[in-house]
Amino acid sequence: MVSTKSPAPGRVDAIRGRLLWFEADPYLAGEGEAVRYVEDGLLVLKDGRIAAVGEAGALATTLPANAVIADHRPHLVMPGFIDPHLHMPQTQVIASYGAHLLEWLEKYTFVEEQKYADPAISAAASTFLLNELLRSGTTTGAVYGSVHPGSIEALFAEALSRNMRIIAGKVMMDRAAPAALLDTPETGYEESKALIERWHGRGRLSYAITPRFAVTSSEAQLQAAGALAAEYPQMHIQTHLSENTLEIETVARDFPWSEDYTAVYERYGLVRPKALFGHCIHLSERERKALSQAGASAISCPTSNLFLGSGLFDLAAMRAAEPAVKVGVATDIGGGTSYSMLQTVSEFYKVLALKGQRLTPFEAFHMLTLGNAEALCLDDRIGTFRPGMEADCVVLDSAATPAMHWRIKTVETLFEELFVLMMLGDDRAVAATYLMGAPAYRSDNA
Ligand code: GUN
Ligand code: ZN
Repeated sequence: MVSTKSPAPGRVDAIRGRLLWFEADPYLAGEGEAVRYVEDGLLVLKDGRIAAVGEAGALATTLPANAVIADHRPHLVMPGFIDPHLHMPQTQVIASYGAHLLEWLEKYTFVEEQKYADPAISAAASTFLLNELLRSGTTTGAVYGSVHPGSIEALFAEALSRNMRIIAGKVMMDRAAPAALLDTPETGYEESKALIERWHGRGRLSYAITPRFAVTSSEAQLQAAGALAAEYPQMHIQTHLSENTLEIETVARDFPWSEDYTAVYERYGLVRPKALFGHCIHLSERERKALSQAGASAISCPTSNLFLGSGLFDLAAMRAAEPAVKVGVATDIGGGTSYSMLQTVSEFYKVLALKGQRLTPFEAFHMLTLGNAEALCLDDRIGTFRPGMEADCVVLDSAATPAMHWRIKTVETLFEELFVLMMLGDDRAVAATYLMGAPAYRSDNA
């Protein structure tokens, strides 16, 4: 058996480290039922999937003599992080000064996204984005393109070449934006359908029908999106909902017949399982119930909501709905300000603190992995360590920076360590990332 600190790209038979994963939501099931931690653990891989998980001492004896073990002790090894809402054409919009949502869209985002008519720009940004996600320990993303089908062609081609699980769609938008960014109900439908037929199901790719939001889609376009959704009932849908009060007022003006914002999407059959609604800050009780009863997911984007001053997500209200609303947490690059899911849950913790609510580190790390997998309805493939699951994982160094190294000296429990990791950690805490068992990123000081 070959035990190595720096596995050659391509072939790893097992990963050794402090294994941490979740089998349920610690908030619902309690930490004893939900959290799995093996101090000296081994993740045995076969054909990109998990073959076995458990104590290294016992499992190592089952491996052949020439097995390659990537030894990441003393680091934590977890299922790869999942980012269920971000925008590929916004990597050069991130950190644009001083605007609320609608101003920010008009002043920066709608200007920038016009550049993505150029396939070379889409390809370069896709390469940058996927590199940045992997550097941050993110192995799955639900991604918006620009209105141009070529933006998704570029992103899917890049993800396919890396064997990375990406859900994505070109945005459908036929009004309230510059002419160069508009499709029509017909072209939006046809272009989305062509992308589905060409890409959905190839490698680890899946398509998301992506009407940008009700402000930029006419009734005819939402109807076309609904028709597409009906034709492809297994497809994801992604859009924005109830992020900003001016946005909500605009939707009320544009759809005067609708009792609220969510009812607009309901009217067109867009509220259903695998439908992902970004933000969901200002929802009424009726709207939360509509999402939960339909099996749709609310995706909170805390760094974005703070940056744009949009408001504070109400996790307690989502949990209190009957049934509870499925909740995910995401970066929303480039309204969001960090690619790091660690930073994202750090800001989520602070958002909830302002609401008088709490997020334990176990709840936070569950959300980054199995919770987000459930929000995407992908928990049968990713988000936990179980035989048969796809072997995407992240290796985390809880002492990666001087501040973390100093603070971690006083830490006595896993709970405390995870809290330090989420509050002080970022891409620097990611020592390595694996996609389907293959090394996909390794930091210099891993
Ligand atoms: N609503 C519609 N489009 C967008 C977008 O690109 N970013 C955010 N944060 N909200 C939106
Ligand atoms: Zn968004």
